[in-house]
Amino acid sequence: MRDGELGLNLVALSTTIGIEVRGLDVSQPIDPTIGYALRQAWAENSILLVRNQDLTDDEQFAYARIYGEVAARIKPPVEKRGFRADPDNPMQLVTNELDDEGKPVGSLGDGEMWFHTDKCYVEKPHRASFLYAVEIPSEGGHTKFASLYNGYDLLPEALSQKLEGRKVLQMYDYTKTEPGSLDQPLENLLHYWQPVFVTNPDTGRKAVYISRLMSMRIEGYSDDESRALINQVADIVEAPDNFYEHVWRPGDIIIWDNLSCLHARTDWPREQRRTLRRVTIEGEALA
Ligand SMILES: [Fe+2]
Repeated sequence: MRDGELGLNLVALSTTIGIEVRGLDVSQPIDPTIGYALRQAWAENSILLVRNQDLTDDEQFAYARIYGEVAARIKPPVEKRGFRADPDNPMQLVTNELDDEGKPVGSLGDGEMWFHTDKCYVEKPHRASFLYAVEIPSEGGHTKFASLYNGYDLLPEALSQKLEGRKVLQMYDYTKTEPGSLDQPLENLLHYWQPVFVTNPDTGRKAVYISRLMSMRIEGYSDDESRALINQVADIVEAPDNFYEHVWRPGDIIIWDNLSCLHARTDWPREQRRTLRRVTIEGEALA
């Protein structure tokens, strides 16, 4: 990767995806030239890591604003709404910690999560998400990031032709950890038909906007045909040489591009606490 060209010390995280910026204290005001370079490095590499940070909530918000407008939280439909701590705060605590009464102090706290991209099931998905690591278990709880740019580039011609110009129904059932069922009223679920191929507004590159967890149906195909197509794409995107697995350390902050990568979480011992602070950035309708 380029080193120093725009004043950043950049180190690739893998041959596939991801960049680390070294020697940066993001709690301090960042010069607009450096901010521009950070945004470029993030868009080109899909995820951008800075380690060893010590951030207050306000400092995390200030860092996030380099990349765009901080987004409000999106609420699931009433039928799928469980207990959510502090649902109006744009800073979301991702934690398995419980309070004295046994209630979660955050959300999305426990266990493995399949590969997905955030808020793909609304008209204007959040463009980027940040996680800042506060407390990390001694093993597991890693985040995998898979490249949707490479996924697009690696699609066999026949598969690409089947998907060209189509839309995909993105949907998420907040009560499940596996794909939701289509045998229920869609109005009870957040869902949206998105383009299968999206052009990244920063890089002009195309990505295949499909995940095994949240993509439910491809326009023009039956449910069975759709699931087969989604699985074929997911097998390519989730291949071991197409993702980077991040082993968190407290003080890590990562921003990822929801249009050009998927992310997934590995499991960890239940008795260990895992706490990260999450902020998202607003996005536009996709094309
Ligand atoms: Fe997510």
